[in-house]
Amino acid sequence: MSLNKAPKNHVFYRNQNWIYPRIESGEGVYLYGEGGKEYIDACSGSAVANIGHGNAEIAQFAKEQIERVAFTHLSRWTVDTIEKCAEKVCEWAPGDLNHVYFVSGGSESTETAIKMARQYYVERDGKESKKWKVISKWNSFHGNTLGALSMTGIPGRRNIYEPMLIDFPKIPQFYHYRNPWNCQTLEETSIKAAEALEEEIIKQGAENICAFISEPVVGSAVPGVHPTKIYFDKVREICNRYDILFIMDEVMAGFGRTGKKFASDHYDVVPDIITCAKGMSSGYTPMGAAICSEKVFDTIMVQGSGNFIHGHTYASNPLSCGIGLKVLEIIEREGILQNAAEQGEYFGERMEQLYKYPIIGDVRGKGLMWGIEFVQDRDTKEPFDPSVNLKGKFTVNCLEEGVVPYPGGGSAGNGKGDDTLLAPPINITRKELTEMMDRLERAIDKTSKQVL
Ligand SMILES: Cc1ncc(COP(=O)(O)O)c(C=O)c1O
Repeated sequence: MSLNKAPKNHVFYRNQNWIYPRIESGEGVYLYGEGGKEYIDACSGSAVANIGHGNAEIAQFAKEQIERVAFTHLSRWTVDTIEKCAEKVCEWAPGDLNHVYFVSGGSESTETAIKMARQYYVERDGKESKKWKVISKWNSFHGNTLGALSMTGIPGRRNIYEPMLIDFPKIPQFYHYRNPWNCQTLEETSIKAAEALEEEIIKQGAENICAFISEPVVGSAVPGVHPTKIYFDKVREICNRYDILFIMDEVMAGFGRTGKKFASDHYDVVPDIITCAKGMSSGYTPMGAAICSEKVFDTIMVQGSGNFIHGHTYASNPLSCGIGLKVLEIIEREGILQNAAEQGEYFGERMEQLYKYPIIGDVRGKGLMWGIEFVQDRDTKEPFDPSVNLKGKFTVNCLEEGVVPYPGGGSAGNGKGDDTLLAPPINITRKELTEMMDRLERAIDKTSKQVL
């Protein structure tokens, strides 16, 4: 039964059991609520507001672009902002990922990528190609639209929609803390997780698989979880050997979040398609993209029919592309990538110190994208019973302290497990980050005392 705490108005909120404090404004890493209550946005919304809130340069640019031209349809026109943004995105992207299909968000980007993968094989091998299945992983998130949800490996998000989903094969995640192979090191887990891909391909038959999708650093499913380099070395090799496209889902980790342009760069891996969104426009406009290799583009668009059977009204929106380009220019001009890498070092050190609180089971992450997993018993890794409402209590304590986390859960199985993502704006200063961590520690300490 709903607790009906949400404001009573005409909005269909996501969760009627939450109180929804009102935000009046934002500036830099800060959000300001009613009565001037100050919050440090420790999650950038959901790893979105990478260059912080209230950027005056973007506001000015958006005004001018709206006055010039806000909307054109991709089926008929091209606009300078679209072309320049695509050029900049490809400059940032690894390898020969030289072609950008712009959309409006993360789910659209992953849906676009799997349709691109399917059409790639149809163009190359003919309509009789059986290659359509996408292998993904449990404990992964690729979006909530039905195609994207079919790849997502979070039972709590899937269960009631199961009859409507595509039955894509799932393999285990490189989730070392709760790995199914009893591996003792992250390297071992990474190897086992990659071997699981080959086993699944053999089981399904490579002739039925068009793509494998993975996050480089996991977002909301098991925040901050990542493998060692060997995982993506092996994945790349396996995908090549079995003629399967490799899609890297950088929706959360891309565009500087982990201290590099794309998180793929940490592993020196070049996927066939990168999906991205969020930090790409830093939340100043809804935006996403699928960035594909020369091989994929050439097969569909040059040697093939030349017509990608896909499209959305807001694909390649000239206003969004202009804003996205501005965001990337600001990141370059202000040395924000370098800042993310430097502050990420300090962030990691502070995160490792959290083990002094007994409810911390695991911390992991890269750059300015880290996750915390809470447990009742560190030795047994026993999660809290959902009736404790650990993440609810932690969130309220955080907000009281003036820091905004991105809590989640369910990774321990049977609906159990509490975690949080921490991903502040990547232009955060050392002073702000220190203050953020101090507030976070006070909230963890308070929560610890409440539940143990
Ligand atoms: C890795 C990943 N892929 C896809 C998505 C879906 O993006 P959106 O919510 O913009 O549809 C998300 C959202 O959090 C994500 O983290």
